[in-house]
Amino acid sequence: MIPPKHVAIIMDGNGRWGIKKKKSRNYGHSKGIEVVQEIIKASITKKINYLTLFAFSTENWKRPISEISFLIKLLSFYIDEKSNEIIKQGIKIKIIGNISKFPKKLQNKLNKLQIRTISNNKIQINIALNYGSREEILFALKKINKLKLNVSKKNLEKFLYTYKMPDPDILIRTGNTKRISNFLLWQSIYTEIFFEKKLWPDFNKYDFYKIINKFNKINRNFGGLNE
Ligand code: IPE
Ligand code: IPE
Ligand code: MG
Repeated sequence: MIPPKHVAIIMDGNGRWGIKKKKSRNYGHSKGIEVVQEIIKASITKKINYLTLFAFSTENWKRPISEISFLIKLLSFYIDEKSNEIIKQGIKIKIIGNISKFPKKLQNKLNKLQIRTISNNKIQINIALNYGSREEILFALKKINKLKLNVSKKNLEKFLYTYKMPDPDILIRTGNTKRISNFLLWQSIYTEIFFEKKLWPDFNKYDFYKIINKFNKINRNFGGLNE
């Protein structure tokens, strides 16, 4: 049994949760961010090296502007509130995705947080913001083309946001939906996928530990044969 090094999560179901509670979709997003903190702590406990969180996809711009602005405000507020704690916990933050579409102020905050945490080594948290797998792969191909490099797996991976990181061992999607929604398509060829019925705000560290335990019982072949 090889413990998981990299866990990726599609944190889905915030909006439905907010509506279910007879409040708003945005209320669900606020609750969702509390769960993020619990799962970060649980990941540190489990000695996971990389935790990748899908926070905003390239397709999420299709949502009403009021929801998008709320998510931007929430993230901004979260950084202001939690930066010092993040540093103290030894967390390294890396943003994956093209953040140039976000307001300049948020971009600056995100860049600053990445710089401030760059030498931390307890866990690396990748926050996927305006992330889309197709965009990521196309970007890498364009780079290869521009630099007149060979089209090879090695060269392509150099230009992915996940360069030098291990592929995810586990992908969790909450929210009772079984799809990948443009997340880590290149990186997840041998990832063990867990679809969770619970909406993200209801997900907790015990659900997370259960998945890790299930994962630990899986025989992974990577196309070969079981030894
Ligand atoms: C996921 O929850 C969070 C983001 C996409 C930001 P949703 O907002 O997609 O919640 P549902 O799936 O509509 O319930
Ligand atoms: C995926 O959830 C993106 C994030 C969790 C950030 P969505 O709610 O956007 O996915 P679809 O639209 O249901 O596929
Ligand atoms: Mg959703």
